[in-house]
Amino acid sequence: MCHSLGGKVEAGVKREFGHADLLIREDVALQSQNGAKKTKGRAKIPPGFASIAYTSNTEYAAIEDQVVRHFYGVQYHPEVTHTPNGATMIKNFVLKVVGCKGEWNMHDFCQKQIDIIMSKLHGKYVVGAVSGGVDSSVAAALVHKAIGDRFRPFMVDTGLLRKDEARIVKERLESHIPGMKLKVLDATGDFYKELAGVTEPEKKRKIIGRLFVEAFEKAVSEMGLPHEDCLLLQGTLYPDVIESTSYKGPSSVIKTHHNVGGLPDRMKMEVIEPLRLLFKDEVRALGRELGLPVTSVMRHPFPGPGLGIRIIGEINKETADRLSHADDIYIEELRKTGHYDKIGQAFAVLLPTVRSVGVMGDHRTYENVCILRAVTTTDFMTADWYDMPHDVLARISNRIINEVKGINRVCYDVSSKPPATIEWE
Ligand code: XMP
Repeated sequence: MCHSLGGKVEAGVKREFGHADLLIREDVALQSQNGAKKTKGRAKIPPGFASIAYTSNTEYAAIEDQVVRHFYGVQYHPEVTHTPNGATMIKNFVLKVVGCKGEWNMHDFCQKQIDIIMSKLHGKYVVGAVSGGVDSSVAAALVHKAIGDRFRPFMVDTGLLRKDEARIVKERLESHIPGMKLKVLDATGDFYKELAGVTEPEKKRKIIGRLFVEAFEKAVSEMGLPHEDCLLLQGTLYPDVIESTSYKGPSSVIKTHHNVGGLPDRMKMEVIEPLRLLFKDEVRALGRELGLPVTSVMRHPFPGPGLGIRIIGEINKETADRLSHADDIYIEELRKTGHYDKIGQAFAVLLPTVRSVGVMGDHRTYENVCILRAVTTTDFMTADWYDMPHDVLARISNRIINEVKGINRVCYDVSSKPPATIEWE
């Protein structure tokens, strides 16, 4: 906006990450004279605009066109949970400045998505990979509600899933969504084979993404449906879209999400992404609207690449089994102690290349380190590490070290997002 209206946009001299105090100018007419250091450099707001808030780094933290246009601009992020009253700011803008009525609700959204799905069908089928996570389960329930058995869901067992996940998910979905049949495709061998020796995170993600596509193709061909007759369902959410999309400049690719980006031309399948505009908390609300049980809807998210991005180093059956076992103990204890529902996402991470010396009984051990991660968040764009009681940590650590072969040390991750991310890769 500044650029288009005749201002000058350039990188600040000092960068601003994390916490900053936003100071509102009481007398806007005073403009930049009351407090903020003059911004070094040549950044300029367009004619007709005034600064309405500043931080110690910039005098233009928020600007307003005071003439007639009712244009506002901010340099901070009112949409993230770390901004106090950020949602109120957006709400005030949308309701009071823009003049919207605020009538959007989940029931209507759900109906609208059902209409869209039906309108795109044209006698075709929808195929979709279900991971067992909240997103794909909600997407599957939505499409099943829209088109019944024209929806053909399948689950790819990548060998990088939670412990016994394929079996559990199949049982759960088929019992909660009457009429749904979930086909499970065992691709564990392909994944372990192609990931052998690969340690670079983006490379792993790309391989996992490619193998997923190949598994899609295989699952679809086993269904006997020509690609031209199929639409592909993906449970892409809005944060995935933001973090994976590099438009002409401002946002750089942080991680390559394997569930965004489309399919190779040979598959010729149109993708439908009914959750593309939703944040996680909204997906959960939609799941409730669709009648999914609380245990499904409140499940912590699980990333598409699965344990692949939680094994920091080479992936093989042994490291995957080790990690899924540790993770299972961790989650079981969190559920038992009532912490699971207070946490946005919890999981274990394995450092297969790091070995530490320990002692068990009379023996020296030289084994892997397991990291426990737990964060609180509502939008998954920002997150705080969870303040876990020591007795709970002690019990989990004790159980993992005693029960999981190959792990002799457990650490707790105390990093927030940003600057860390939730996953380790
Ligand atoms: P990060 O690590 O970016 O994670 O802070 C934010 C949320 O996204 C999940 N995540 C993924 N989900 N495919 C997914 O479906 C992916 O490639 C992927 N990478 C991260 C992560 O688990 C967290 O909930």
